[in-house]
Amino acid sequence: MRFLALLLAAALFIPAPARADGLDGLERLIAAWLESPHGNYQSLSFTYWNDQGSVPESCAMCHSETGFLDFLGVGGHTAGQVDHPGTINTVIGCASCHTAEAHALDAVTFPSGVEVAGLGSSATCMVCHQGRQSSDQVETRAAGKAEDEVSGDLAFVNIHYAASAATMLGAEARPGYQYAGRSYAGRFMHVPGADSCVACHEPHSTAVETDGCLACHRGVDELRDIRTQHRDFAGTGDRSGGIHSEIVALQSQLMDAIRVYAAEIAGTPIAYANSFPYFFTDPSGSGELSPDQITRDNRYQSWTPRLLKAAYNYQVAAKDPGGYVHNPRYMLQILHDSLADLAGITGLDVSHISRP
Ligand code: HEC
Ligand code: HEC
Ligand code: HEC
Ligand code: HEC
Ligand code: HEC
Repeated sequence: MRFLALLLAAALFIPAPARADGLDGLERLIAAWLESPHGNYQSLSFTYWNDQGSVPESCAMCHSETGFLDFLGVGGHTAGQVDHPGTINTVIGCASCHTAEAHALDAVTFPSGVEVAGLGSSATCMVCHQGRQSSDQVETRAAGKAEDEVSGDLAFVNIHYAASAATMLGAEARPGYQYAGRSYAGRFMHVPGADSCVACHEPHSTAVETDGCLACHRGVDELRDIRTQHRDFAGTGDRSGGIHSEIVALQSQLMDAIRVYAAEIAGTPIAYANSFPYFFTDPSGSGELSPDQITRDNRYQSWTPRLLKAAYNYQVAAKDPGGYVHNPRYMLQILHDSLADLAGITGLDVSHISRP
């Protein structure tokens, strides 16, 4: 793969001025990619299926270069679907984003079924960073069931990881569970020059150049301290932190509310661990799980529709830690609405929180 990368790079024939350190532009770019998560051959994202020998169709689009090329329709495959298992140990190399098909890609269909067009050179990013679930799947699972009745048909629905594209598009793509009768923020437009994936992330290193951000957002040294909306959304009385801290505070209040609801209404205490499938039965009711409780057998199984929706939204926020920059209003809204929805039943006082 490294060889292929260099071959493709050579084939591009991009002239670049020599630098004092001997690295020209192209070598620099390849070095940046090799250091990036996309070029990380050791990552679980590209080795998870090694025992199986191939990456299943349902995972290959985002977890192997061959699967992504299959999805793009390179080499006679049908575009828009993956027909063959992917090759293990293939990272997201140059060819993933630099085939004619990848360059031409401009529209992406999200798990909600919504197609969003006009995405330009960020379209490839949006394919893999779209998540795997949406409001619509959660709604379908919960449909026809009483909100507060435990149903054996329900299981946790996981958005998957780094669904930043869906977050950025907000209500246009519906990554969060969107409660009926509420309106949700659409695409976070931010400002020209910081309004698309590749405007903020250098596509090869995937890094964000923070100097540009802090030139506008003066008075802070850290991106997570940036704030332009000054309302006390989480109702903590402390508005000194960045908008990130409001989201994190609401997340933690939502977790508390989920635990109260699970114990009192669903009848079985719940706890969260950062390990699939994330929500587990918590016999002690303490919120703390021991390693032997973080197992598939101990996965939480007393789901009600209301609990599922709240847990889903908790995870949407937890799995896009950059949510505060990708779409702060949308994140605040879904967390707020889940908290308010649980409070309506448990009697928890949420008069202190405020919705953007
Ligand atoms: C729409 C794209 C997409 C699909 C389809 C997809 N994933 Fe992922 N997955 C991702 C992304 C993006 C990440 C990287 C998250 C990160 O930044 O670490 C990821 C990460 C992972 C990880 C690593 C998690 C960790 O803790 O590092 C595993 C394991 C995984 N996915 C399993 C699967 C499996 C199994 C399937 C198929 C059933 C699948 N994925 C399908 C996009 C996808
Ligand atoms: C995840 C997708 C992705 C991968 C992987 C990728 N590129 Fe790119 N590349 C892009 C995008 C997007 C642009 C255009 C950036 C823009 O629009 O500003 C680009 C631009 C370029 C350019 C033009 C110069 C520049 O810096 O903008 C060259 C040359 C290039 N890529 C070579 C490579 C090589 C060689 C590799 C493998 C080491 C590679 N790319 C891997 C997405 C990717
Ligand atoms: C073919 C699928 C695919 C494409 C296309 C893709 N990514 Fe990724 N991206 C992934 C996977 C998988 C990971 C996790 C890699 C790992 O675990 O090492 C990832 C990781 C990342 C990370 C680091 C996440 C973290 O948890 O720190 C960033 C940032 C990122 N991608 C941004 C982008 C941008 C920007 C683009 C478009 C230029 C893009 N990605 C295109 C699949 C993709
Ligand atoms: C306004 C600039 C900006 C835009 C636009 C943007 N990002 Fe990010 N992104 C960031 C910053 C900053 C972080 C790191 C946040 C942190 O960790 O505090 C980040 C984090 C990430 C991460 C890793 C952590 C996470 O939240 O999952 C991924 C993956 C990612 N971005 C992908 C994308 C993709 C794909 C797009 C386009 C849909 C995009 N980003 C658009 C600035 C941006
Ligand atoms: C040209 C000036 C400018 C640049 C450059 C810029 N921003 Fe912004 N940013 C703004 C403005 C204006 C807003 C308010 C937008 C709105 O609320 O619709 C904002 C909002 C934000 C917010 C949400 C704050 C809140 O309280 O809701 C975050 C986070 C953020 N920017 C991060 C970044 C990051 C990270 C970068 C660099 C990748 C960046 N910004 C680059 C002007 C800028």
